[in-house]
Amino acid sequence: MKVLVVGSGGREHSICWKLSQSPKVTALYCAPGNGGIAQVATCVPIKATDVDAMVTWAKEQAVDLVMVAPDDPLALGMVDALEAEGIPAFGPRKNAAIIEASKAFSKELMKKYHIPTAKYETFTDMDAALAYLDAQGAPIVVKADGLALGKGVIVAQTVAEAKTAVRDMMEGGKFGASGATVVIEECMTGPEVTVLAFCDGEHIVPMPSSQDHKRAFDGNRGPNTGGMGAISPSPNYTPALARRCIDEIFLPTVAALKAAGRPFRGVLYFGLMLTPDGPKVVEYNARFGDPECQAVLSLLESDLLDILLACRNGTLDSLDIRWRDEAACCLVLASGGYPLSYQKGFPITGLDEAGKTAVVFHAGTAQKDGQTVTAGGRVLGVTATGGELNAAIDAAYAAASQIHFQDMHFRTDIGRS
Ligand code: AMP
Ligand code: GLY
Repeated sequence: MKVLVVGSGGREHSICWKLSQSPKVTALYCAPGNGGIAQVATCVPIKATDVDAMVTWAKEQAVDLVMVAPDDPLALGMVDALEAEGIPAFGPRKNAAIIEASKAFSKELMKKYHIPTAKYETFTDMDAALAYLDAQGAPIVVKADGLALGKGVIVAQTVAEAKTAVRDMMEGGKFGASGATVVIEECMTGPEVTVLAFCDGEHIVPMPSSQDHKRAFDGNRGPNTGGMGAISPSPNYTPALARRCIDEIFLPTVAALKAAGRPFRGVLYFGLMLTPDGPKVVEYNARFGDPECQAVLSLLESDLLDILLACRNGTLDSLDIRWRDEAACCLVLASGGYPLSYQKGFPITGLDEAGKTAVVFHAGTAQKDGQTVTAGGRVLGVTATGGELNAAIDAAYAAASQIHFQDMHFRTDIGRS
């Protein structure tokens, strides 16, 4: 089969790496891809959000399956556009991807179907939002309704801070149209866990749990990033909790989407907080998380292509998906200054040495004059596995110590904070 993966980050590299191991994949393409993905797939210079160009290219090449990995093209309806042209595509349609693209929608869905989450109100009127903040007090959480590159959430410690966030979003136009509607919700506490799940519209197969590390610096300090590292499985996610999440959160969510006429086929991301009152949903995403995907897929034994096809065909329940009974750690090596401003174009050394004991997924790299250079904020995801979590963490750090580029920054406490 000819397979096209849409996207260009570490997540897409790990998806291509896994698909390239499938004997059924005869040709693998990635659009636009990056300097590392080029080692396992043919990169096609089409922007991930260019729906028309993607459909045209996939049709010309008679691609058998398009795997749409990032949130933006899913929210734009790339899967719908591909299917309208008869091209099989993996990922939720636009009407189901809304579970990530609109927090107001997802909160409403959870309320209607009694899925545990933080108490909230939605506002399109700024004065009403400000009055609500006065009434509720702090700490409190302010969220832009739409997609905002993971930066549209402010966990405010004071009412003044929350009011500034509301004004920035609703009056200042921060996040554009995404901030015209805001969700204000109760501040929850507890460890965070990610559970990614394959869905075929009706059935759901959770993958091993994982844990992202969103803050830029050690000790969970500094600004929020796209994610500085991930471990899988999460030591906090016990079998008893897993049972409870399946019954109280995962199955009800898939049933709710189906009942709403929005069957979800793809990877559903459950961002959970293990609060003193039990597990609650922090957020849904309509795709694999990054870097969680890099850690989780490195534990997958089964053929990923079979799973993607089963999600499309509604046959997920008849598939036996196998995982290695091990642990994984993905350590992100970032450009100094990320997530704010940083420089690009620095040569990267030590990739071959690191690759002997870990899989080095590329997030933001490019090939220049025969050399791999930095080309983004998150540059590499050094991913290692081990029998125990600590062994996986040590192996990821040992491999990363071989790699150098100017201003390289990473957290020293992934899996240990
Ligand atoms: P989100 O983009 O919705 O995942 O939010 C980003 C981060 O903000 C989450 O990973 C949490 O750490 C934090 N957060 C979001 N909502 C809440 C909440 N209701 N209570 C406490 N922390 C939250
Ligand atoms: N790692 C969080 C996300 O992909 O949204």
